[in-house]
Amino acid sequence: MSLLEIENLRVTFDTETGPVHAVRGVSFSLGRERLGIVGESGSGKTITGRSVLRLIRPPGRIEADRMRFDGIDLTKASEKQMRALRGPRLAMVMQDPKYSLNPVMRVGAQLMEGLLRRDRLGRAEARKKAIAALEAVQIRDPERVMEAWPHELSGGMGQRVMIAMMLIPEPDLLIADEPTSALDVTVQAEVMAILDGLVRERGMGLIFISHDLRLVARFCDRVLVMYRGKIVEELAAGDLMEAKHPYTQGLLNCLPRIGGPRKPLPGLDRTGDWANA
Ligand SMILES: Nc1ncnc2c1ncn2[C@@H]1O[C@H](COP(=O)(O)OP(=O)(O)O)[C@@H](O)[C@H]1O
Ligand SMILES: [Mg+2]
Repeated sequence: MSLLEIENLRVTFDTETGPVHAVRGVSFSLGRERLGIVGESGSGKTITGRSVLRLIRPPGRIEADRMRFDGIDLTKASEKQMRALRGPRLAMVMQDPKYSLNPVMRVGAQLMEGLLRRDRLGRAEARKKAIAALEAVQIRDPERVMEAWPHELSGGMGQRVMIAMMLIPEPDLLIADEPTSALDVTVQAEVMAILDGLVRERGMGLIFISHDLRLVARFCDRVLVMYRGKIVEELAAGDLMEAKHPYTQGLLNCLPRIGGPRKPLPGLDRTGDWANA
């Protein structure tokens, strides 16, 4: 059985100027694998990810023919059931650590909070687990980081702390929304290698949202390509760099080439039938 099954997901924002159809009939399923979602800015990647956790605020509304996580019907689950799923079973790493870490709480206290409250561990045990989580994301001096304030962390360190925080409850599915876009290339690869190891070791499912096609090709099993709220192509990650779909080719042509000439980025071709569907 799939970990996640989504059929005909639609997300609509009812605005003063009329409905905005952010996601227009997305279907996919996911096992304990690494699924990439790519597409230009505004194509509906983040909204798709947030829909799985049912984190869409009004005036947005979610509709789906089917949305099941590990057999649980997410379209019918109560808000209380959703709260119990978020964190322990379904987790999402947001783009910017600034919005996920509490600025007035030391890192260690934040990492230990859920363990103390939800899991009712004693302080010593919670501290041990928090330090182990920091070690799992390859933070070499976890004792020092435990005492740090969020603003004292570098971008790469903040990302790792955030991933550690999401992983403490050992979720079955992690949605990582552009988790590395603010980082330099070396740190990006390190963070991806950490996520990759966790998928392998824990059998976790991963949805990796990114506009970086190279990273997705390297670290995912399968890729969904989104355009204007729809999936225009689904392919094995290994085939991404040779994609046939004109939109996906357009995204590939926008990739800056290392050492290549600095020409302006070509515009995406949006003239096919797929573009107006
Ligand atoms: N609160 C909102 N009100 C109206 N439209 C929204 C709102 N949030 C997102 N959208 C629209 O949904 C579309 C998809 O957004 P998003 O999923 O964030 O794109 P991506 O993550 O691919 O860049 C965008 O075109 C955006 O305009
Ligand atoms: Mg986004």
